[in-house]
Amino acid sequence: MKKLKIDFHTHTREDRKDFIHYTARELIDAAAARGYDALAITNHDMLLFTPELERYAAGKGVLLIPGIEITADDCHVVIINPRFSPDPKGYALTDLQRLKNEDSLIIAPHPFFHLFKSLKARLFPLLGHIDAVEFTCYHNSLLNLNKKGVLAAREYGKPLVGNSDSHKLAQFGMTYTLVESEKTIPAIIRAVKAGRCEVKTRPMSGWTMLRLIVDYLTFERLRRFIDRRA
Ligand SMILES: [Fe+2]
Repeated sequence: MKKLKIDFHTHTREDRKDFIHYTARELIDAAAARGYDALAITNHDMLLFTPELERYAAGKGVLLIPGIEITADDCHVVIINPRFSPDPKGYALTDLQRLKNEDSLIIAPHPFFHLFKSLKARLFPLLGHIDAVEFTCYHNSLLNLNKKGVLAAREYGKPLVGNSDSHKLAQFGMTYTLVESEKTIPAIIRAVKAGRCEVKTRPMSGWTMLRLIVDYLTFERLRRFIDRRA
């Protein structure tokens, strides 16, 4: 069976929380150009999945998968194919128990990254509700904060998925997942849960990593400043 090239964690300009230059359509264009079979757009606390976008992606050979990155107790959690409408009041980590179901995939993104809203030690008591652990694109031979996530996934028998958490197109394509599955959403989710997936990644240069993180922190603060004054 063909292995599908997939990114389960990306952001686009429609995201209300982060400052991103490219739109969902532009990300889909990039996915098609870089040979992706499927893509989830997981903007913060909002679901960006419309029949129009789904058709646009399908026209380019990309299966668009619904996704969201929720904020729960100030931690980020990625939920693929969610079966709920986003709650404007936000979530608690204990809500994962009711949000979990067999149609969805719950991913712990960048679980031990200190600059991001990561679960860190809170991952462990939640592992019963987590379907997969993320290996994210920010790493090189000198700095790899994915290591603890890899160890946790191994120790507790959780699949690892490679994602870009893209905020810049420069990072999209550096890390992704190959999933042995038919090209349908239910089949892909079943395949990941069964562990039929592997991380593909290449290291990010220190300069690129620094530039992405500084950009992220600078624009994020600027955006919050502008929002407060609006
Ligand atoms: Fe994210």
